[in-house]
Amino acid sequence: MTTVVRTRAELAAALGDSTRPGRRRAVVMTMGALHAGHLSLVRLASELADEVVVTVFVNPLQFGPGEDLDRYPRDLDSDVALLTSGGADLVFAPDVAQMYDGDPVVTVSAGRIGAILEGVSRPGHLDGVLTVVLKLLHLTSPDVAVFGQKDAQQLMAVRRMVADLDVPVEIVGAPIVRDADGLALSSRNAYLSAAERRTALALPAALSSAQLAAGAGRSAPAVLAAATDLLAVVPGLEIDYVALVDPRSALDVGPDHRGPALLALAAHVAATRLIDNLLLDLAPQENR
Ligand code: PAJ
Repeated sequence: MTTVVRTRAELAAALGDSTRPGRRRAVVMTMGALHAGHLSLVRLASELADEVVVTVFVNPLQFGPGEDLDRYPRDLDSDVALLTSGGADLVFAPDVAQMYDGDPVVTVSAGRIGAILEGVSRPGHLDGVLTVVLKLLHLTSPDVAVFGQKDAQQLMAVRRMVADLDVPVEIVGAPIVRDADGLALSSRNAYLSAAERRTALALPAALSSAQLAAGAGRSAPAVLAAATDLLAVVPGLEIDYVALVDPRSALDVGPDHRGPALLALAAHVAATRLIDNLLLDLAPQENR
């Protein structure tokens, strides 16, 4: 049975009832408009813990001016139905007043991770994410929290926050879930027309092209170019960034880099901003 709570007091009461020594709790944080990607996190969480708490909250703090806060899809009834069949034990779906007593004065800074990649187009976005993630960790006190690799930079920033601020929780990353055509599942895909969706397939195509280049032993700049060149000629698609970065620091890798590297990209398809990424392994120099 899935219990749904809307207030901090109800959450505290529900968690109090279930807290027992040795019983592990996992949390999955979401903004709702749930899809199979979110549900894969819930499934993984239930393998890692005895109790799964899912939070559903569209966090105003992580949206910039002119972004899609007002039109972000919201449908709690259908989210709860999915979470009930998906195996969540408790759903915390607060309203804004439950989470923020006015504008917070003290917030979390994502530091230099917050200023690169997503942070260039979305200044303050990762600060807003980390602030709500820390608040939700405090409110749900989980042993483990599961985040998707789909938002790779967010996952890196959460890992850094937990390490740098000594937050007592284990962070687990979950693989990207894609549709059959290769497009990574995202709540924002709902904004795409059929034609825009076909255009958006250039994102996974660019990742595949880079993967082929990496598999052929090409250098970091050549791998990056394989993705960029493909995206650059797609009508109706505007590149925001294409970057090949260190999977832990999110900093660009050098031209002679070997080993793991994350290819991260963001692009606009009409009014919709999409992101995607793939972990690559750049072959050692001697294989080139
Ligand atoms: P949201 O975009 O709803 O995503 C919630 C979680 O689902 C994140 O960890 C995200 O990486 C993961 N996710 C989304 N699409 C996925 C996919 N196709 N495959 C695997 N995992 C996927 O990310 C947020 O919300 C917010 O920033 C949040 C962390 C809740 C803070 O407000």
